[in-house]
Amino acid sequence: MKYETRPINDKMNDKTSFGTLLRSARHNDYTSVNEYHWRPIFELQASNALAVWREYHQNRVWFEDKEAIINKFIGLHKCNSYLEVGGQPFAGKRSTYHKVRCENKDSVNTDPTVEFEYELPDGSNHYVMTSDEFFKKIKDTKKLYDIVFIDAWHEHEQVLRDINNCLAHLSDNGTILLHDMIPLTRDLEKDPHRTGCCWRAFADLRATREDLDMSVLVPPWGSEDSLGIIRKGQQQLFDKKLEYNFDFFLDNIEDLMNLIDLDTFYKKYIDSLVSE
Ligand SMILES: C[S@@+](CC[C@H](N)C(=O)[O-])C[C@H]1O[C@@H](n2cnc3c(N)ncnc32)[C@H](O)[C@@H]1O
Repeated sequence: MKYETRPINDKMNDKTSFGTLLRSARHNDYTSVNEYHWRPIFELQASNALAVWREYHQNRVWFEDKEAIINKFIGLHKCNSYLEVGGQPFAGKRSTYHKVRCENKDSVNTDPTVEFEYELPDGSNHYVMTSDEFFKKIKDTKKLYDIVFIDAWHEHEQVLRDINNCLAHLSDNGTILLHDMIPLTRDLEKDPHRTGCCWRAFADLRATREDLDMSVLVPPWGSEDSLGIIRKGQQQLFDKKLEYNFDFFLDNIEDLMNLIDLDTFYKKYIDSLVSE
């Protein structure tokens, strides 16, 4: 198998080294490898990010997982309403739903399981239905969420509908976080039960919505969890004609997804607020 990484540098330049790493693995043949074939990519990116942080950025808090990022946004913007599209409150402590600390937490999932190990917080609801049905149900209400995590059916058109529906119910200062924005391999990109091709929905909006501020954090703890971040604001659009295939994705990943590293994440989303 072939993998190429760039040496670390003081700019915490994960962005280009991550793109380089993914592109270097594009022709690897994983047919005889198990479902964790993406693991070497994950480990290389995570150890690179950790090395850069140790060398240059130890004054920054190290985020352990995606829930730490969600909770950071909740704290920064004093969010009190959370929606998880594809939430699993029935999965107990290991679910994102339970790790998120917010006053009101709604979730929607097609899974019929309704037995919970822990009670939902007062005022919170879990809806057993598709996300499309859920948004139809709340369409005429004035329901707004301060923070949303989208992690349900990982297919292009579905993710696009989920994002657009969430935008319609997002408070002005709200944040949408999206899971599984970066398929690490061609096989993962094809499988909607795993990473799938959610990136295509994100790319659609990167190419058309100047009124949004969008980026994808290459997470310090390992690239498997790459997190899309959407807020109302402004952005310079991705201006090439989109192609919905894995090679186009790899060749344009930095600009297409507006990849950001931990240092940029801090400057863009945290330092600006803290210094206000
Ligand atoms: C990757 S899992 C979610 C994991 C969860 N977000 C967490 O981090 O703890 C995806 C979930 O989406 C649900 N799902 C699939 N299609 C859906 C749809 N159209 N609407 C709502 N939920 C859906 C599945 O039942 C599954 O539980």
